[in-house]
Amino acid sequence: MLNIPHSPIPRAEASTLLAFVLGIEPKELLTAVPPSPDQERRYQSLLVRRAAGEPLQYLTGKAYFRTVAVEVGPGVFIPRPETEVMTGWAVEWLGSSPGTVVELCVGSGAVSLAVATELPGLRQYAVEIDPVAFSWAERNLAQTQVLLRLGDMATSFPELDQQADLVIANPPYVPEDELGLVGKDVLEHEPALAVFSGPDGLDAVQTVIAVAARLLRPAGALCFEHAESNAAAAAELVRASGAFTQVQTHPDLTRRPRFTTAVRGPVL
Ligand SMILES: C[S@@+](CC[C@H](N)C(=O)[O-])C[C@H]1O[C@@H](n2cnc3c(N)ncnc32)[C@H](O)[C@@H]1O
Repeated sequence: MLNIPHSPIPRAEASTLLAFVLGIEPKELLTAVPPSPDQERRYQSLLVRRAAGEPLQYLTGKAYFRTVAVEVGPGVFIPRPETEVMTGWAVEWLGSSPGTVVELCVGSGAVSLAVATELPGLRQYAVEIDPVAFSWAERNLAQTQVLLRLGDMATSFPELDQQADLVIANPPYVPEDELGLVGKDVLEHEPALAVFSGPDGLDAVQTVIAVAARLLRPAGALCFEHAESNAAAAAELVRASGAFTQVQTHPDLTRRPRFTTAVRGPVL
């Protein structure tokens, strides 16, 4: 095993950076040859940047999500493990009811790419408002049939009104009032537009609910992520819209209430 000397960051992250510099997978470090002086310099510089707070995935340019890997970098939100759970719920639902899927707030494209990879043949649409994030999604979804649009989800895909089978969203949802609880890495490096959404974190959630009510066919499904502190409020907003039945809150990997699902009621 290549010796990983003491470093200012967790050992697993140091291994990832060393493997990245050597152009191998971390598991191949077991049999790797030592870095050249140039590789050692690059590794040391990445260690310093990581210790200063730059996200690991921005340094390697890659983030893993369920069955896929996406390219990421400054300007785009790094996909999180909790979103993998919600995406799993959607994949399961679509397995028995395939059709048209709309992702709101697509970011890097990780969710849509995972859905396209795990369930080929769906009709997929996705929207992103931020041009920089959009360009990452374009790159990550280039080999798929996902129809990607740059714009505000509020007015997206009017041609699909009442036709979508599933709407999925991981919108910005951190309450601006909870800014003090957000890690320095996120605050200093990830786009604020991807993270915060109004004082109570519910601005984008309300838009997601309204857009899903417009896009979904009767008995189509909505799933969206929200702040743990907003689980009850998110479910209440879905109920209050009058458009949905079967409103359910689901836990993430750490058993925190993290996403809500609902079924579109009859369109009157
Ligand atoms: C939390 S990130 C989620 C990205 C990706 N879906 C994921 O789970 O990794 C939210 C994304 O929504 C985008 N966004 C924010 N407001 C939006 C709006 N009104 N319409 C479309 N996209 C929006 C942000 O730019 C950001 O890329």
